[in-house]
Amino acid sequence: MSIEKLWQRLIGAERPVIQKASQPGKGEFGPVAPYYDHLMRTVPYRPWVDYVETLLQEHQARPHKVLDLACGTGQVGAEMRRRGYEVVGVDLSEPMVRQCSQRNPPLPVAVMDARQMGLARNTLDLVVSLYDSLNYIVEPKGLVSCFASIHCGLRPGGLFIFDLNTERALRVGLFTQSNLASNDPLRYRWKSYWDERKKLCRIEMWFQWNGGGGPIEFTEVHYERAYEQSYICRMLEKVGFSSVAVYNAYTLSPPTARSNRVYYVGRKPA
Ligand SMILES: C[S@@+](CC[C@H](N)C(=O)[O-])C[C@H]1O[C@@H](n2cnc3c(N)ncnc32)[C@H](O)[C@@H]1O
Repeated sequence: MSIEKLWQRLIGAERPVIQKASQPGKGEFGPVAPYYDHLMRTVPYRPWVDYVETLLQEHQARPHKVLDLACGTGQVGAEMRRRGYEVVGVDLSEPMVRQCSQRNPPLPVAVMDARQMGLARNTLDLVVSLYDSLNYIVEPKGLVSCFASIHCGLRPGGLFIFDLNTERALRVGLFTQSNLASNDPLRYRWKSYWDERKKLCRIEMWFQWNGGGGPIEFTEVHYERAYEQSYICRMLEKVGFSSVAVYNAYTLSPPTARSNRVYYVGRKPA
């Protein structure tokens, strides 16, 4: 089946790249896109997908059609496809989506804003969104509208699994880091600033690529918002999800005050 047909069947859009974001991110995931997979090469994507499968088992779900929401370069989606799921991805950043569609075989992907998706009703079995992607939606209204369209796109009984950085993770400056002492071809220095009133973490990032085609220097500024667990559960329930479960990441235990990342699992009632 062609990528276009698969795409149409899964999320109801006509072509893989269909929609420009009306509110582009603030320079996020632009220049870094070609280097993202190098930057993330030690990220344990396979164990993360193992964990998603553990959650599926825990919630007695056997999905087939999957949307990788805010898929980035498609590492999660590609791993799920290797395991036999039928996967499409969406992401706000065109440069990230371009990387994603250059995979072999390419993952069907579209540039779409999670805050305003027009998903076909009752089609998907599972929506996953990993690696704090939804912290990037910094307006609560945008997040709720994202939850509502996912609820619409899932078939009855379908699951929505996503992770979020906790306020603790953003407050203690986990993003303040650098690798300047290493001889990695991608050198970086990041500094994060926490705004207590807005619950917003601003991360100023400097990079220098010294590999093929280098040296190239660029910067990005990212914003992640912290959301309280009770707020997320309330909003998921408000748009229609039932039996929302919350876990300390990579466990089946509830989060603690020391959790840096939590996973949410919401079910659209059958
Ligand atoms: C930290 S990356 C994670 C990417 C991917 N999920 C992974 O695991 O590697 C966050 C991603 O969220 C995307 N993103 C941020 N805001 C978005 C939005 N409103 N709609 C869709 N994607 C968004 C970014 O473009 C970026 O690719």
